Amino acid sequence: MARVLVTGGAGFIGHCTVRLLAERKHRVSVVDNLSSGNHALPEARLHVMDIASPELRHVFKEEKPDYVIMLASQVGVASSIRDPLEDARVNVLGTTNLLWACVEFRVKKVVYASSAAVYGTSAGPVTTEDTDLRPTTFYGLSKLTAEKYVRMFGLHYGLPFTILRYSNVYGPGQERSKEPGVVSRFLQCALNGATPVVYGDGEQTRDFVYVEDVAQANLAALTLGENHAINISSGRAISVRRLLSTIARLTRTNLRPVFAPRTEGEIAHSTLDNSKAAMVLGWRPQTNLRSGLRKTLRHLLNTGDHASVVGLREALETPAAASLLPNRP
Ligand SMILES: NC(=O)c1ccc[n+]([C@@H]2O[C@H](COP(=O)([O-])OP(=O)(O)OC[C@H]3O[C@@H](n4cnc5c(N)ncnc54)[C@H](O)[C@@H]3O)[C@@H](O)[C@H]2O)c1
Repeated sequence: MARVLVTGGAGFIGHCTVRLLAERKHRVSVVDNLSSGNHALPEARLHVMDIASPELRHVFKEEKPDYVIMLASQVGVASSIRDPLEDARVNVLGTTNLLWACVEFRVKKVVYASSAAVYGTSAGPVTTEDTDLRPTTFYGLSKLTAEKYVRMFGLHYGLPFTILRYSNVYGPGQERSKEPGVVSRFLQCALNGATPVVYGDGEQTRDFVYVEDVAQANLAALTLGENHAINISSGRAISVRRLLSTIARLTRTNLRPVFAPRTEGEIAHSTLDNSKAAMVLGWRPQTNLRSGLRKTLRHLLNTGDHASVVGLREALETPAAASLLPNRP
């Protein structure tokens, strides 16, 4: 059993990670300012605090963490463009404050949650960890800058680290995020009879990785992959249009989108190669898009009131429903 501090533990990926840590009998504490996270955390001791706060060291003094998983972040691409100061305050200064506390309290290792956004214009159909880093948004830039701070703390203070670069994460709980991803938005539209918005022509491709697989990678990185940056992804591309039609078939709805101008700085194609994760962490995604979407939909049906899709829950349980989705993500 180890003492693990998770920042951003009340958020989408954080909550799933906290649950898995608790299942593995680790002692878990969380620092979260609840700015977007809102998940209940019976498995952990919650400290409501900003990661940039000078009070952070008191939490470290009390919790004495062996490991820190760094998920707290300003997470919105569009909001980073609207407010680059807040983005840098949290993602750069907040991260640095956190790393400083890790050094002072002799944390054994940090796992930093980075993003495919660091590749920016270099991202393509096969993006490896050696691909050039050319972010196109303040969010991508602040995540890359934080990565560099993580490495610099390793260099000057010997703080061991693993940087994980997630592709597009989806799954149960994302609907509660302040900036839910496209899978969550499309599923919600299907269940609520709303019109989905597609930014750009919908031909842009993405690589969707299931949240429980990401949580598994976070745990693997506690002890493996020291001083590496590693992609965490499905390694498979799907266009936004194809995702929409897949969700329409799954939910038996007629999802006709409206098209809006593409977001400034948005990358056309992004598929992260995940072979390094297999080699270094022994990690492979376990959940394909078909079963991930089904699990997410089941979660939404169990937690919400969606009268517009009567019978869908039962239909999901029948073998025939399997044919509603393609085999490959
Ligand atoms: N969701 C994705 O597709 C994705 C993809 C790539 C990388 N990431 C990274 O994964 C991490 C978690 O993202 P998520 O999707 O769970 O987002 P989320 O918004 O659900 O979770 C972020 C959590 O951090 C907390 N937080 C924000 N600012 C804070 C601050 N200043 N101090 C303390 N807590 C703060 C929020 O309250 C929230 O609970 C982030 O670092 C994000 O950049 C996410």
